[in-house]
Amino acid sequence: MVSPERSREAWHPRSWRELPAAQQPPWPDETEVDGVLKHLSTLPPLVFAGEARRLTQALAQASRGEAFVLQAGDCAESFADLSADSIRDKLKVILQMAVVLTYGSGVPVVKVGRMAGQFAKPRSLPTEDVGGMEIPSFRGHIVNDEAPTTEARTADPSRMVAAYHQSATTLNLLRAFTKGGFADLSEVHTWNQQFVASSAEGRRYEAVASEIDRALRFMRACGIDLGAEASLHQVEFWTCHEALLLGYEEAMTREDSLTGDWYDCSAHMLWVGDRTRQPDGAHVELLSGLHNPVGAKIGPTASTRDVLELCERLDPERTPGRLTLITRLGAARVEQTLPLLLRAVADAGHPVVWVCDPMHGNTFLSDGGRKTRRFDDVLAEIQGFFSAHRAEGTRPGGVHIELTGDDVTECLGGAEEVLEDDLDLRYTTTCDPRLNARQSLDLAYRVAELLRT
Ligand code: TRP
Ligand code: MN
Repeated sequence: MVSPERSREAWHPRSWRELPAAQQPPWPDETEVDGVLKHLSTLPPLVFAGEARRLTQALAQASRGEAFVLQAGDCAESFADLSADSIRDKLKVILQMAVVLTYGSGVPVVKVGRMAGQFAKPRSLPTEDVGGMEIPSFRGHIVNDEAPTTEARTADPSRMVAAYHQSATTLNLLRAFTKGGFADLSEVHTWNQQFVASSAEGRRYEAVASEIDRALRFMRACGIDLGAEASLHQVEFWTCHEALLLGYEEAMTREDSLTGDWYDCSAHMLWVGDRTRQPDGAHVELLSGLHNPVGAKIGPTASTRDVLELCERLDPERTPGRLTLITRLGAARVEQTLPLLLRAVADAGHPVVWVCDPMHGNTFLSDGGRKTRRFDDVLAEIQGFFSAHRAEGTRPGGVHIELTGDDVTECLGGAEEVLEDDLDLRYTTTCDPRLNARQSLDLAYRVAELLRT
């Protein structure tokens, strides 16, 4: 085990390079990679240290049960899907979910998008067999293209620069939308897209939106100057992604001129995946020295000891809001496994935010060969997550959802049920199956109910 004190002293944005790094792409030409990273390290930061510190504060509230985290967005963002419409529609769903959660539970919602940088994907195998040919696996658009040819799958470092620019463009629009009037509570009706509004979930949403209108009118009638209340007109919206591609994250890591601390300025929050969370591995090393809030995915193979070691490496000072543990145990396992982890982490005194990822432990192949998830399993894992916290007296801090604003048919079930035969209709994800806008909204009602009780 790496001693936390010693390794912190030796930490540097490059110190991960001494350690085993899982899931790094086989770049054909390392000098080309070095050139790209050098260029990236001269480009402006995407987010600022002060913003990351504010998010830590918001997450600290969630760790105490005073706020609830909604972490949501694509499994993998796509170079083929950079448009104002798709960013806006994803934001609409997240805002709708946030409204439902805030109004339904009375608890503020910390909105964190898997957006503006969620490009790199870990893979279970480095290659795949396509028609008898062995080609490199698809690792996300920041590395290669998903077309099933050797050429398309060859890792191309210039894609890191393209990913940076797409992140900047996306973040720019998100900042405009969330600060410039689009997220104003008086716009609450306009986030309901046509294909959602016509469904049962959408009509239920309209009812909530009308109640919010009434509440605002009531406050105005009471003499409150609503125009002066900035919090009604804008939202704080944060970005996050998996810190998988270490060279890219290193190049985006900058020293804050105010505090002298290091921040990865590619996003407000970064997490390590279940496949890259080895306490003595390169990914944990990089995250351990950053001052951003960080997260770790915890799958069913993680032992209590693994989790405690990870907490010690990533949050030795036990700072509230610093560390978020995102559990993805599967609906069948959550009630058995989670209480042990909750107890051990609480006993060790780590004030972590517990977030439930109900997506990744519930993925399976449909008969037609499509990767999919059942809405009911997603919901069941969330219910198990809440009951484990209730039993242990700890705080359910949030949910982590893969969703899209589009009317896709990738996950099964929901009130307007998607059936196995429907999967082929609109299955457009570049990676894992996502909840569509109706299913996402449906889920928000259920979570709000759980939060209320
Ligand atoms: N600013 C508050 C918040 O973020 C209220 C708010 C404004 C809001 N627009 C919103 C909440 C859109 C949810 C969705 O909580
Ligand atoms: Mn995924």
